[in-house]
Amino acid sequence: MITLINPYNNHPVVEKKEGYEDDTGEFFPRSEGVVRFVKESNYADNFGFQWNKFQKTQIDRVHKNLSHSRDRFFTVSGWDKDSLKGLDVLEVGSGAGRFSQVILDYTEANLYSLDYSDAVAANYRNNGHHSDRFHLFQASIYEMPFKNDSFDKVFCFGVLQHTPDFKKSVQCLIEKAKPGGEIVVDFYAVKGWWSKISAKYILRPITKRMSHKRLLRIIERNAGWMIKCSSFFQKIGIGKVANRFLPICDIEGTIPPGLSKENLKELVILDTFDMFSPEHDHPQRVEQVAEWFKEFNVEVTYAGLVSYAGGFKIAAVRGIKK
Ligand SMILES: C[S@@+](CC[C@H](N)C(=O)[O-])C[C@H]1O[C@@H](n2cnc3c(N)ncnc32)[C@H](O)[C@@H]1O
Repeated sequence: MITLINPYNNHPVVEKKEGYEDDTGEFFPRSEGVVRFVKESNYADNFGFQWNKFQKTQIDRVHKNLSHSRDRFFTVSGWDKDSLKGLDVLEVGSGAGRFSQVILDYTEANLYSLDYSDAVAANYRNNGHHSDRFHLFQASIYEMPFKNDSFDKVFCFGVLQHTPDFKKSVQCLIEKAKPGGEIVVDFYAVKGWWSKISAKYILRPITKRMSHKRLLRIIERNAGWMIKCSSFFQKIGIGKVANRFLPICDIEGTIPPGLSKENLKELVILDTFDMFSPEHDHPQRVEQVAEWFKEFNVEVTYAGLVSYAGGFKIAAVRGIKK
């Protein structure tokens, strides 16, 4: 059983009718099904907007024959679904809940999940029916409402590059694992100096300052011709270089094949918004992340690229807390 605390003073909190309260009277309200441990809007508001708009786009359960998130979760974590039975698992940065869904639908783990943004409202609508094993909070990786040394497993997928201090974020994740517990992260990797020479990093200083609605409108208007352009470049063999300078997400590298034209366009709009809107985008070298794991007393069991779902690749580090 996980004890919930006030993340700002570490006092235990108790459940009240409309939220949680500590012994000093500080109260954390429940809204749209989720207890909120953050007080105001923050740098992750773009994600709240994005995941409430695209609540179902990446949820495997909603799409026939889609197992992209399930493949990524089990391959990157290396966890076996039966062995998670009864364990306390912490998910940090859950977005609309594509991985929450996988854990809740395919394992019997107790899932504690949080996100800094209002994406938690979308996750609750997607997965709130698993109320016996699902505990969802709006909170920051830097101020989590749990005691240290609590969880059997901790994972954080696709999030660390979007936090202001990658190293500190890794440390906070490790703090929440029990000694002997396992931590797994995946993230955007830097491969070399050329990693940041692309339309994404050239345009982001402008796009991240735009209103979310305006940015989304521009992407929606232009997605159609850019998808055609990207597939043309791919067909004539110059996709690897030319598509770096097309202001659209990496279709080849991230979008599952076999989608209808409509689904493809929706996913491309989501992923393109996800690449241009975040306040923070700080990719890291895999070796550096593995070094930080060791510095925080974790035995690294894997560090490198993981291939999943028939050829997609993501950088990941796994380890066991000593
Ligand atoms: C690219 S999304 C990934 C969401 C989900 N893991 C997925 O792969 O679909 C990054 C998420 O990290 C969350 N995030 C950013 N900073 C955070 C922080 N300090 N604490 C917790 N979550 C954070 C954002 O709100 C956003 O939902």
